[in-house]
Amino acid sequence: MRLDKYLTECGLGSRSEVKRILKMREIRVNGKIEFSPKFNVSIDDEIVFNGETIEYKEMRYYIMNKPAGYITATEDKKHKTVMEILPEWVIQKNLFPVGRLDKDTEGLLLFTNDGPMSHELLSPKKHVDKIYYVEAEKNITDEDIKKLELGVDIGGYITKPSKCERVDENKMNLTISEGRFHQVKKMLHAVDNSVIYLKRIKFANLELGDLEIGDVREINAEEIL
Ligand code: URA
Repeated sequence: MRLDKYLTECGLGSRSEVKRILKMREIRVNGKIEFSPKFNVSIDDEIVFNGETIEYKEMRYYIMNKPAGYITATEDKKHKTVMEILPEWVIQKNLFPVGRLDKDTEGLLLFTNDGPMSHELLSPKKHVDKIYYVEAEKNITDEDIKKLELGVDIGGYITKPSKCERVDENKMNLTISEGRFHQVKKMLHAVDNSVIYLKRIKFANLELGDLEIGDVREINAEEIL
């Protein structure tokens, strides 16, 4: 593989940043300074930048604080997709979003090229927790909370037990371990209410932290589960 491609795929920077680093003669391949972007390397070569060996990452993981207005899909003819807001330094080859957030939903969205990990996270058998911050049109009563926590009928399906933590009269953090289509919106409808704002704040062990809306951060697989 070309050295510039390899370095970009390792996450060293965008193609142009990598070219600049090469020009500055800051890369060593097997102990020898190499500056040609076309130089051929393989994963067996030792590639060093700033005294540190660069590991080739086959599996990649990124989290995004998804803004509203984008659909969760890798491509779409009509709508803007979450892929369009990935920054240039993200290696997009074979990358896909894990699960789905609605167009008007904000918050934590994981991207990876790791199929088995995605399967593990989405499998209904694994009961991976997701926490949503919900703002509802009407106040959420204690009775509603009891019903939501026990399970409600969302059109022929009774939701699994959930956890509601009230934030305000019409606001709560809702923890669910399933990911049915429009699940949170349907759960609110089941208690005669509706969602006016929805944001996923936690997915498995992942939290948004200080990630600003629209921003992306690379993470390690170990942080996820
Ligand atoms: N539930 C919903 O209703 N919408 C989402 O985007 C996520 C969960």
